[in-house]
Amino acid sequence: MAKAAKLAFWDDSWDLREKDCPCDVHFIEWLDREKITDSAIYHFGTGNHHHVGLECARESRRNSVLGITAAPQEYDKYVELAIARPEVLRRYNVVFGDIYLLNERLLPNFDVVTLFHLCEFRSEKTDSYGGLTDLEVANLLTDRTRRGGHILFFTTSFAFDWDGPMSAKRVIARWEKERPVERVGDYKSLLVYRKKE
Ligand SMILES: C[S@@+](CC[C@H](N)C(=O)[O-])C[C@H]1O[C@@H](n2cnc3c(N)ncnc32)[C@H](O)[C@@H]1O
Repeated sequence: MAKAAKLAFWDDSWDLREKDCPCDVHFIEWLDREKITDSAIYHFGTGNHHHVGLECARESRRNSVLGITAAPQEYDKYVELAIARPEVLRRYNVVFGDIYLLNERLLPNFDVVTLFHLCEFRSEKTDSYGGLTDLEVANLLTDRTRRGGHILFFTTSFAFDWDGPMSAKRVIARWEKERPVERVGDYKSLLVYRKKE
């Protein structure tokens, strides 16, 4: 009998490294610059620091974040955080999972979606259990973005313009043709799109 494929989880834990990986810090700055408060945000890749969820939960921002992590260590950190700080839990929920197994039936509509780590973690292992492609993930989350809402990418991600199997830049070029989106501009390391009204 064929051996069942195991989940391609991320056996690691990521601290906030603003120099190497500034996307989450730039994202909070962008939210503030755009004066985005009281919104619903989907965030791909929480990190062990949970910077986006913690900053968004502040009373001055009141943004609700659904984050996903594929790292058990990062999820454990979230559980610790939720127990210690229920005021954070009210606005910040984290799912342990694989973005390539996203199920649209389990998702509400969002005002903002971050796809900073598109193409970084998909592998043959993902194929072994029929995971979505990066383009399918981008399309699905765009369908779950309200009209006029924003979708953001990370231009200094190692997978943004690499020679790997699929780069985020190539996925974005196809996604732009398949979904009603328009490029708004850049904010530091971030590339910002809006879903057309
Ligand atoms: C390099 S860390 C970056 C974390 C944070 N965004 C930052 O920039 O500091 C990558 C993040 O992506 C998450 N991740 C990796 N593969 C994933 C997958 N298949 N599904 C969901 N999240 C995944 C990891 O758990 C981790 O939180």
